[in-house]
Amino acid sequence: MTSEAPKACVIGYPAKHSRSPKLHGYWLDKYGIEGSYSAEEIAPEDFAAFIKTLAERGYAGANVTMPHKDMALQLSEPDARALAVGAANTLWFENGVLRSTNTDVEGFLGSLDTASPGWDTRTSSAIVLGAGGAGRAVILGLIERGLREIHVVNRTLSKAEELKERFGDMIKPAGWDDVAALLNGAHLLVNTTSLGMHGEPPLTVTIDGMARDGVVADIVYVPLKTQLLLDAEAQGLATANGLDMLLHQAVGGFELWFGTRPEVTGELYDLLAADIEGGG
Ligand code: ATR
Repeated sequence: MTSEAPKACVIGYPAKHSRSPKLHGYWLDKYGIEGSYSAEEIAPEDFAAFIKTLAERGYAGANVTMPHKDMALQLSEPDARALAVGAANTLWFENGVLRSTNTDVEGFLGSLDTASPGWDTRTSSAIVLGAGGAGRAVILGLIERGLREIHVVNRTLSKAEELKERFGDMIKPAGWDDVAALLNGAHLLVNTTSLGMHGEPPLTVTIDGMARDGVVADIVYVPLKTQLLLDAEAQGLATANGLDMLLHQAVGGFELWFGTRPEVTGELYDLLAADIEGGG
């Protein structure tokens, strides 16, 4: 036994722009926990060696971000969510075994529950734009909440079709030409592509026909309010942005490493929002 304070980190390449140290640092301070959370920039070819020495380096666990989420899954004992998504973003030790999960699933669900409590009782159908890693986490969350029809819109249709193989017949692959018709009367739209992100092409969808009590979520958080979310707000729809999801996905890791389940608050949101808006 050592009396060392618990340490965690985010492992990425690059890692320096990560908002996670600020976020976890805020919670460590708030709950008076003696611990630390840092950023580790590790190249893909060095990732496996780094993970093997994670415990030796004094880490109780880690977040894993681009481009390591697939490799993290391979190098650990995944839980059901990480396996189903096919990617891991959170690592921790359980009886000396390196375990992994994917907290993007609960991050997405937490942000939606906050934006529109009871949303999952009002719809059994959703439209998900994108079929990458983030899309798979969102889809698993929707399936966990019992949605019966998930239209997955993707530029490369074969990737949406692969998701039907992975998750089942509730996945309805679709192309961008289908979006306008799908959105008519829709209750839930989620963008999991990088479209609309600063420096990326715009996302051009018309959401006028969505249900009045509909919800729009966007994983993009630079800018905080994408054009999609501005349009949704203008129509009085509930919205969740990428920062909401980022904050909620961080809760599970913090609890695993530091033993306290932290709260996502307006104050924390404002702190990170100022950082993002300041380009920090
Ligand atoms: P992530 O793991 O963050 O989800 P990803 O696996 O690279 O990232 O997935 C990116 C998603 O955004 C994909 O669905 C991608 O569509 P393709 O599968 O056709 O590549 C989508 N995407 C990215 N840029 C796009 C663009 N310019 N137009 C349409 N879709 C785009």
